[in-house]
Amino acid sequence: MISQTKNIAIFASGNGSNAIELIKHAKKLNFTIACLICDNPHAGILKKEIPIPIHLIEKTKSKKEHEREILKTLERYQVNWIFLAGYMRILSEDFIAKFTHKHPTHAHSRIINIHPSLLPKYQGLHAYERSFANNDQFGGITIHYVDAGIDTGEMILQGKFERKNEDTITDYIKRGQELEHGLYPKILERVIKYDY
Ligand code: GRF
Repeated sequence: MISQTKNIAIFASGNGSNAIELIKHAKKLNFTIACLICDNPHAGILKKEIPIPIHLIEKTKSKKEHEREILKTLERYQVNWIFLAGYMRILSEDFIAKFTHKHPTHAHSRIINIHPSLLPKYQGLHAYERSFANNDQFGGITIHYVDAGIDTGEMILQGKFERKNEDTITDYIKRGQELEHGLYPKILERVIKYDY
């Protein structure tokens, strides 16, 4: 039986298809995700029916102030793990430091991200598009712990998919996202069960 000592928040800024898969998978495990934080009032995820509390905390000019607001909300739920699912703001070092893993052999943050490339290739924005434009034979995704760099944290899992000759960019992204939706919930399950 899974004890609910982990309080997990999801951060999303866009469509939230990964967020939805995570929430669905948690439900299958009888686990409740504490809340979803969104920083974008135009995000598609806000139009969807989500069975957990959603907090829209809009970006402010100062990242410090924004993160302070977010932290206040996370404290209410005693959040100790964060899954980034298309969250479009880089977290500060101070923020990340608040979520360090206490486990003796796992010195990384308790913040996990999914990135649409086989890192270290295509760090940053528009990774599928850049991979497609380069005619890569394979695309891929990486799930990693978050550190203070951009898509540089310790890797947890990678998955790759083959580009088909007839692929348009839309097909390519779709194939990548299907992979994301299959793999990200597995890592959520690992955190829920084993706390790393
Ligand atoms: C995904 O491709 C993810 O890899 C990247 O942002 C995208 C978010 O998509 N970090 P969605 O909002 O989960 O549909």
